[in-house]
Amino acid sequence: MSSDHTFDVIVIGAGPGGYVCAIRCAQLGLKTALVEKNTRLGGTCLNVGCIPSKALLHSTEIFHEIKEHASSHGIVCKGLEHDLSALMKKKDGVVNQLGKGVRALVTKKGVTCLEGTARILGSGRVEVTEGKSEGSYSAKEIIIATGSKPIELPFLPYDGKHIVHSDHGIAFDKVPAKMAVIGAGAIGLELGCVWSRLGAKVEIIEFLPEICPQLDPEISKVARKIFEKQGLTFRLSTKVTSADIGKSKATLTLESEKGAEEISVDRVLVAVGRGPSTDGLGLKEAGVTLDERGRITVDHAFNTNLSGIRAIGDVIHGPMLAHKAEEDGVACAEIIAGQSGHVNYDMVPGVIYVDPEIANVGLSETQAKDRGIEVRTGSFPMAANGRALATGATDGMVKVVADAHTDRLLGVQIVARGASELIASAVSHMEYSGSAEDLARTIHAHPTLSESLKEAALSADGRGLHSI
Ligand code: NAI
Repeated sequence: MSSDHTFDVIVIGAGPGGYVCAIRCAQLGLKTALVEKNTRLGGTCLNVGCIPSKALLHSTEIFHEIKEHASSHGIVCKGLEHDLSALMKKKDGVVNQLGKGVRALVTKKGVTCLEGTARILGSGRVEVTEGKSEGSYSAKEIIIATGSKPIELPFLPYDGKHIVHSDHGIAFDKVPAKMAVIGAGAIGLELGCVWSRLGAKVEIIEFLPEICPQLDPEISKVARKIFEKQGLTFRLSTKVTSADIGKSKATLTLESEKGAEEISVDRVLVAVGRGPSTDGLGLKEAGVTLDERGRITVDHAFNTNLSGIRAIGDVIHGPMLAHKAEEDGVACAEIIAGQSGHVNYDMVPGVIYVDPEIANVGLSETQAKDRGIEVRTGSFPMAANGRALATGATDGMVKVVADAHTDRLLGVQIVARGASELIASAVSHMEYSGSAEDLARTIHAHPTLSESLKEAALSADGRGLHSI
């Protein structure tokens, strides 16, 4: 095999896990190739996930803010309307620009980009088909970073028209009059909010008794009440049992304690989770072990059961989040280079980018108690924060959870405008094993929303200064 087909590392998949891993490998002096079947790098996150959804969320948030709150700021706005195609163009522009940026970045860092679909032939051997870089390649290490894909409900196959997943939900050509969302998790809430702000009547159907089941129930409830005020309807503890897809509408049969009911909608967005994307990689033939959920089984060094084949990101255990995949990628590269790469999976922040945003890190009160930990909690309502009042961001709260004996900060949960940024200081405190007292004694600028974190920490010790 010629030298341009032989590498130290071949990374398969150029999402945030894969391309970051490839960059780190190259930084560490490893001859690295990155195989991607899409012409644009960046994976789900850049192409159809985090980035386009955030662009849509931001544009629609401006629209919603002006529509609902301009008058409270003394701004008179008449004849306000949106232009969906311009809004989509803006989003597409962001995706294109970032896509070009990632390719330039990866190339500049010395990574060889291979275009095509990769298939693993066994340890050390990869075949690339259907692209400019067709051929056989070899490497000492192969890293699978092929990400995830939407889960399909068996009785509700995706048709891209009435029954859609998030890839479709960021690109409708018109605002549906009525839309059902199945699943009140991150995708359901984010895309539910986007289309509701643009005028759709959105009903979110959740199987469990509360939205965002991974969060503190108090936080989930506060968030739900806010989104109900904004016009979303939630049907909790409700199961979709069947669907009838007509020419222009879909009729869903719902079952709850109240009995069976039917609703007719223009679009059904299914957002019930994502599963690993490993089709066509040849894993079965190569003999790579998968777990009961189809994820690739790896050890602490990201090794699969086959020597020289590792996996990172959404295809392995852990939260399916871009920043977690990036950390996996960096750690995996460092381990390959003989360093001691490590990911602290207890400190992965989660954010749902609605308004107000919902952010969390570490354990919720319930999760801590379930582990038998005695806790103290402190909370602070955003309505009592001066900056929040001045800017009309009074919805939400901060809650901190600390060990009752050691005062170590165990978790922080936030519903507040800007929570995605506020959570960063909580992550730092916790990463350095900080206590609630540490957070409470850290000086936060006034007036900022971040003071609510300090106040919540103070109140864990009954010392809140600005709450009653
Ligand atoms: P999710 O796991 O966050 O939420 C799925 C929801 O659907 C859960 O509340 C679950 O109880 C509910 N559910 C499951 N089956 C159901 C059924 N048959 N009927 C009604 N409800 C049902 O999954 P989601 O929102 O699809 O997101 C997928 C992945 O992508 C997650 O890992 C998420 O963290 C990640 N993601 C993260 C984002 C962010 O960080 N902002 C944005 C979008 C996705």
